[in-house]
Amino acid sequence: MVSRVIPVDPFDLVIFGATGDLAKRKILPGLFRRFCDGQMPPDARIIGAARTEQDSVAWRAQVVEAIETFLPAAKRDPKGIAAFCDRLSYVAVDAMGDAGWTDLRAEMRDAVVQAFYFSVAPSLFGALAERLHHFNIARQDARIVVEKPFGRDLETARALNATLAAHFNETQIYRIDHYLGKETVQNLMAVRFGNTLFEPLWNSQYVDHVQITVAEEVGVAGRGAYYDKSGAMRDMVQNHLMQLLCLTAMEPPARFEPNAVRDEKLKVIRALDPVYPDHIVRGQYKAGAKPSYVEDVENPASRSESFIAMKLHIANWRWNGTPFYLRTGKRLKARKSEIVIHFKETPHSIFDADAGNRANVLSIRLQPDEGIDLRVTIKEPGPGGMRLIDVPLDMSFADALGPEVADVPDAYERLIMDVIRGNQTLFMRGDEVEAAWGWTDPIIAGWEARGDRPVPYDAGSTGPEEAAILMHRDNRRWREI
Ligand code: BG6
Repeated sequence: MVSRVIPVDPFDLVIFGATGDLAKRKILPGLFRRFCDGQMPPDARIIGAARTEQDSVAWRAQVVEAIETFLPAAKRDPKGIAAFCDRLSYVAVDAMGDAGWTDLRAEMRDAVVQAFYFSVAPSLFGALAERLHHFNIARQDARIVVEKPFGRDLETARALNATLAAHFNETQIYRIDHYLGKETVQNLMAVRFGNTLFEPLWNSQYVDHVQITVAEEVGVAGRGAYYDKSGAMRDMVQNHLMQLLCLTAMEPPARFEPNAVRDEKLKVIRALDPVYPDHIVRGQYKAGAKPSYVEDVENPASRSESFIAMKLHIANWRWNGTPFYLRTGKRLKARKSEIVIHFKETPHSIFDADAGNRANVLSIRLQPDEGIDLRVTIKEPGPGGMRLIDVPLDMSFADALGPEVADVPDAYERLIMDVIRGNQTLFMRGDEVEAAWGWTDPIIAGWEARGDRPVPYDAGSTGPEEAAILMHRDNRRWREI
């Protein structure tokens, strides 16, 4: 497989929160990988900005350490590290005060692209935006990048959007949902809209139901304080699962371009029916070999969920009558994320009743082992008469496309480069975020009003029994995690 390097314009990228966790884990290692791939023009520069008083030499040493810690040896080219560091400089800046801002301005050149990554708490977005203007640093065409949590309900999301809109227009704002940068998530669009095979069947006439699962093996240790205020609904469903649902269910956009795609996603969110309380299961992991959820978050009275399973309906012509089942949780049996389309059985079987009737299943595996698998019905080989079995037409990307595909870019690498290219297709628009909260808020309000508590589940399991029952009631079953 030949990897295609798309040229980008020279840029100045300022990372606010340059000493923070996200910068170290994702942003800087991602930029380093793009650099090694030859995707950074010679005069592109990365300026770290944070409160810590230190010079560029000290920050570069931290960046090297981060690259060595968070990139596996096979993914880092040691020869490139020194050259990458030449692109880095650091300015100490006080987001809430005036210190450092004129230094930052002096550090910037008039690069073709100017981008500011707000890798800081959302409470600082307003202060940063204001100072970038007050100190005359951000140009009219500057781009800003922001991350979740993008609000914790509709009201706070609206306030955040308004804060940013006071200084930047929508075409300048890149809201990251890193699931949209995942290779197979983009492949979902390629599968749907690049093949004649699937789209004619992609509706309630042929699809029995859809399952979207994002299962994690990890717990919440280390991020307990943040997570306990969110729970799985705010942390995963409102954003990542909602985006997967939108891409699966949306109408074909007229073009693969930012507003055309985002308009279609928005229509899906707006078409979601309110969810019945008994179509949702919330779970919390119990103690096993490892500590329980409440121990991890150090809150014995916590009512937040670390697992959620739900059944949704999209009230439109395409999906009327086809349920979408969503499931996500922490400390589950395995790390496994997939979107699975369960087609209906054939309307009439020409075979004997004991031949067995089978339905096609298309699964799009996001992680691990990215790939696509379509189960088709064939005759069981041998002399035993006409008995039907299903077999996989399996395409593991690594097997089909060669070992280099194991080297797919991390979501952040792809998304940061899209910011530099000025392509907003894989970023959330403000109205999408607000619509998603508009749908989430009443569900959470219902739990609070009723004083609902999550049900316990064993760590290392597939989630609470109640989630299995949610499916059994409909004569269906979850896919194995
Ligand atoms: C983050 C959530 O957005 O996504 C985490 O805050 C979660 O709780 C993570 O673990 C999952 O991302 P990935 O890429 O590891 O599936």
